Amino acid sequence: MLIRHSDLILPSEITPPEIYRERRRFMQGMGALAAGAALGAMEDATAGAKLAGVRASTYTPGEDKTPYKDVTTYNNFYEFGTDKSDPAANAGSLRTRPWTVAVEGEVRQPKVWDIDTLLKLAPLEERVYRMRCVEGWSMVIPWVGFPLAEIIRRAEPTGKAKYVEFVTLNDPKQMPGQRSRVLDWPYVEGLRLDEAMHPLTLLAVGLYGEVLPNQNGAPIRLVVPWKYGFKSAKSIVKIRFVEKQPLTAWMAATPEEYGFYSNVNPQVDHPRWSQAKERRIGEFFKRDTLMFNGYGNQVAQLYRGMDLKRFF
Ligand code: MTE
Repeated sequence: MLIRHSDLILPSEITPPEIYRERRRFMQGMGALAAGAALGAMEDATAGAKLAGVRASTYTPGEDKTPYKDVTTYNNFYEFGTDKSDPAANAGSLRTRPWTVAVEGEVRQPKVWDIDTLLKLAPLEERVYRMRCVEGWSMVIPWVGFPLAEIIRRAEPTGKAKYVEFVTLNDPKQMPGQRSRVLDWPYVEGLRLDEAMHPLTLLAVGLYGEVLPNQNGAPIRLVVPWKYGFKSAKSIVKIRFVEKQPLTAWMAATPEEYGFYSNVNPQVDHPRWSQAKERRIGEFFKRDTLMFNGYGNQVAQLYRGMDLKRFF
C-alpha cells in the first residue's frame, strides 16, 4: 500500500513558482551570507539552491523549455508512489546528505565517492535535452551535470567490463513506495559500456541552474536523452561495471514490455502505447516522435547493423 501525504501543501503550490523561487533564493543568499561569515564558504545542498559555476550549454534542441513547475511536479519515481504527483508530495523524506556513490566491479580503480567530491570532479554544464517517456509524453529539460564518461575514465574499466549497471537507493524508511512491491527494489538500470561513455550521457545533479529537487532524482541521476525516460535512473548509489547484460528492474517486472536498449523508436511500439507520436507537456496537439528522440546524428552509429525491433 502506498503512503500518501495528500494534505501536504508545498509552498510552490500557493505562490507563483517564479516568485517563490526568487524569494527562496533571496533567503538562501541571506542565510549563506550569515553562515559564510561564521563558517567560511559553505555549499548549499538543498533542492532549489543555485549551483555555482555552471557552464552554458552547447547542447540545446532550440525548443521551448518545459516550465520548472511541470518538470518538478509531473514525475515518475515509483519509490515515492505511482501517481505523477506522488514524487513531489512524498520525496521530502529522502535525505541527500551524507550520500555516497560506489563505483565497483570490473574496474582497476574502484572507489566510493562522496557526493560533494563528485560534484567537483568535472565542470558542471547545462544541457538542454529532449526527454521522452514510454508512456507518450515528453519534456525539454535544462539539466545541470557532467558526462558519465568522467567517472568511467577515472575508474579504468577492465577488458571484461561490457555493461554498466546503475542502482538506486534501497531504503523503505526514506522511500515509502518501496513498501509496496510494484517493482523488485532497488530500481536497477543498465547501459552498454559504449552508450555509457557517449558524450551525451550525463550524470545530472541539477536542473534550471539549481540543485536537483528530490522528486527528480537527487542528489545524482542518470540522463540518457535518446532512450525512454525509465533508463535515466534516479538517486544513484552504485555504478557497477559488469561482463553480462544487467537485468533491469523493468525487464524483471515485464520482459515482454521492456527491453534492455529502450531507444526511442517511433517504429517499434510498446504493447500498450504507440510510440509514433508524443504529447509535449504543455502542448495540446501531439507531435511526431523522432528516431533516437532526435539524437540520431550523434548515436545511430552505436547500433549499426543491429535489428532494433529485436533489440528493443
Ligand atoms: N528512477 C528510479 N529510481 N525510480 C523510478 O521510478 N522512473 C523513471 C526514471 N528514473 C524512475 C527512475 C521514469 S519511468 C522516467 S519517465 C523518468 O525517471 C522521469 O524523470 P523525471 O521525473 O525527472 O522527469
